[in-house]
Amino acid sequence: MPATMNWAQCHTRPVLMIPGPTEIPFPVIQAMNQPPAIQYDRHFDEQVLEPTTLALREVFQTKGEVILMPGSGRTALEAGALSVIEPGDRVLVVGAGQFGILMREIMNRVGADWSEFPVEWGGRLDLDRLAREAQRVRPKALTLVHNETSTGTTYPAAEVGKIARSVGALFLLDTVSSIAGLDVRTDEWGVDLNMTGSQKCLAAPLGLALVSVSPRAWETMERRSKLARSYAYDLLRWREHWIPVSRGGKIPDGSPRRQPVSIPTHLTAAMRVAATLILEEGLAHRFRRHEIAAGALRRGLAAMSLEMFPDPAILSNTVSCVKTPKGIDPSAVVTLMRDRYGVLIGTGLDKIRTTTLRIGTMGVTASPLYVLPTLSALELALRDLGYKSEPGACVAAAQAAFADAA
Ligand SMILES: Cc1ncc(COP(=O)(O)O)c(C=O)c1O
Repeated sequence: MPATMNWAQCHTRPVLMIPGPTEIPFPVIQAMNQPPAIQYDRHFDEQVLEPTTLALREVFQTKGEVILMPGSGRTALEAGALSVIEPGDRVLVVGAGQFGILMREIMNRVGADWSEFPVEWGGRLDLDRLAREAQRVRPKALTLVHNETSTGTTYPAAEVGKIARSVGALFLLDTVSSIAGLDVRTDEWGVDLNMTGSQKCLAAPLGLALVSVSPRAWETMERRSKLARSYAYDLLRWREHWIPVSRGGKIPDGSPRRQPVSIPTHLTAAMRVAATLILEEGLAHRFRRHEIAAGALRRGLAAMSLEMFPDPAILSNTVSCVKTPKGIDPSAVVTLMRDRYGVLIGTGLDKIRTTTLRIGTMGVTASPLYVLPTLSALELALRDLGYKSEPGACVAAAQAAFADAA
């Protein structure tokens, strides 16, 4: 008998409970099991690309165009920023965590005259103060990370959109860890660029960047004094090559699109199935599922006497950021959970890396099937590291939460 059982030895891979990339539904995996398609072929354009972009419009809750390009969330953020911002343009960046910092970095690269509206990590956003700052700065664009993945918080994007509108600024929203998990109302909230990636709550493989563009954002691009510096990621070029005349582009209706860059056919096929599954489930059901699953996870964490990192009023339903017990190293918890129990969660980032853990409830993992074993593995790993809680109490509490919600 070995001294310590390794329960994960028989598994071929850990279950992904990190805040993305996340687990992918089987039909989405299957959609990639095919020989290569030709990206400029009419069949691909009509049978795969067009239905995918139309389905994504519904997921984004927009009548505008959703552009899909090779890349990841950062590609979407950079493509959006470099397309509407010219060097010297004023940008006000709401910075509430690591991904607010990323937005600052991107604005720096595109030559924006940016300033930050700092928010304490895990803390609430003071909307009155932000409104005053926006009045003072009069930025060309106001940026927000809807769901701060580094701290497990969700910020009031609808309200920030109103502030942007009140000062005539474009509203740029990072929805990398919220789209298809939280209610994101692109048009209703006045989002001009909604920028995200494929690998989180959309539950598609990593590799696509997605940006929805409002009419105001297109007008801003048309009014630029100089062409955007990037050839591949200039969204105006995408509009010309990609969008039919009837939807404001340059491609005659019924003609195939041109490819601004070669579109990854396998990833698009997977995204098509992912978007279809989301719409078949229904957005309202999907958002409720994320809410219940995250609530159950939190009940389980509380039953182990673990404390959430953020202000309780702004807890995210897609990423839970929880403090580790005193004296326990988060990276040791992550390693043990993965290597001995087969479940991968994440540590915190940057200044909360050594004090917090992050667990995703995204796409398919927002369900009892994933949440209950994750809690169980966390309890066992913590026990191995010397932190004791009542055996099974966390699972029982989460189970009760799921039962109450049913
Ligand atoms: C809120 C947020 N923004 C941006 C990014 C960067 O996206 P990607 O890693 O897909 O480039 C992430 C990734 O975790 C994120 O969570």
